[in-house]
Amino acid sequence: MLKARPRPNATAPPTAVRPPSADRASAFSCTEATVPAADREFVFTRADFERVRALIHERAGISLTPAKQNMVYSRLSRRLRERGLSRFDDYLELLQSDDTQEWESFVNSLTTNLTSFFRESHHFPLLAQMLKLRQRGTTAQIWCTAASTGEEPYSLAITACETFGTLAPPVRIIASDIDTQVLETADLGIYAEERWKGLSQEQLKKYFLRGGGANAGKARVRPELRALVDFRSINLLAGNWRVPKDLAAIFCRNVMIYFDRPTQLQVVTRFAPLLAADGLLFAGHSESLAQASHLFRLRGKTVYELARPAAA
Ligand SMILES: C[S@@+](CC[C@H](N)C(=O)[O-])C[C@H]1O[C@@H](n2cnc3c(N)ncnc32)[C@H](O)[C@@H]1O
Repeated sequence: MLKARPRPNATAPPTAVRPPSADRASAFSCTEATVPAADREFVFTRADFERVRALIHERAGISLTPAKQNMVYSRLSRRLRERGLSRFDDYLELLQSDDTQEWESFVNSLTTNLTSFFRESHHFPLLAQMLKLRQRGTTAQIWCTAASTGEEPYSLAITACETFGTLAPPVRIIASDIDTQVLETADLGIYAEERWKGLSQEQLKKYFLRGGGANAGKARVRPELRALVDFRSINLLAGNWRVPKDLAAIFCRNVMIYFDRPTQLQVVTRFAPLLAADGLLFAGHSESLAQASHLFRLRGKTVYELARPAAA
């Protein structure tokens, strides 16, 4: 259970940083309000942007294309306002003075957290099939590596409940993200009506408690479902992932698109020894593990199994 805001599980702040090369940078899909340079409240130069790019790449693996200047400006402006600063270079100096709390806010500001219940729904029947085939009496452990606001791990928990016909299936879900703010939302498990898309009426009734009064129009995950998920802060770039081995499944969906290819390969290489021999790795719709074909082979649409399971 997530209690106080945890320290980011990130590597030490970089001293000298190199901007990621533009050709390796991944594209962001979100659109941000454009603030014309002349109307800007804060001094933000091209050099400041390059420093931000380098720092977020080094810290979180996120590659920002040069076109993301406005996004960076609008997202970090809030931090400057909060810290009473008027120039980005003063903010970046503060950051590099190793202000732990500010590093956490910096990373939280620059992540993109789009998600939904049962997103890429073709993955869930495959997960159910794999869970059914597992040996009776064992608990399947699943790692959801970029859990965002929680819709994905709770979809996994609902799938497990439906597969075993109980609110206490033999499944444990470790759900993590680098962004501590989204993890707080996930931990609460309260969702407004506009986020219910993807859930059937039956699922809403069975796995959620509807709010009344001030909470009308909101639904909270049932305690039984909440108990299946353990939220924690994990940076996929950090060296110290606190996850068990012998995982039945790893969900790493729609986060690798923000990483460059060397970072993607580095991360998936570290997944391989964590998976059980019959374990599955689920990727996002535009993510491919083709460059890691020595480790993983395709099992279904963006679902992978070990190329050479340890037990074989
Ligand atoms: C677009 S969301 C995807 C959410 C969910 N997996 C899905 O497919 O709906 C990407 C998530 O990856 C997280 N993220 C970005 N960089 C990360 C890193 N280095 N380690 C762990 N999580 C990261 C972001 O905070 C964000 O919540």
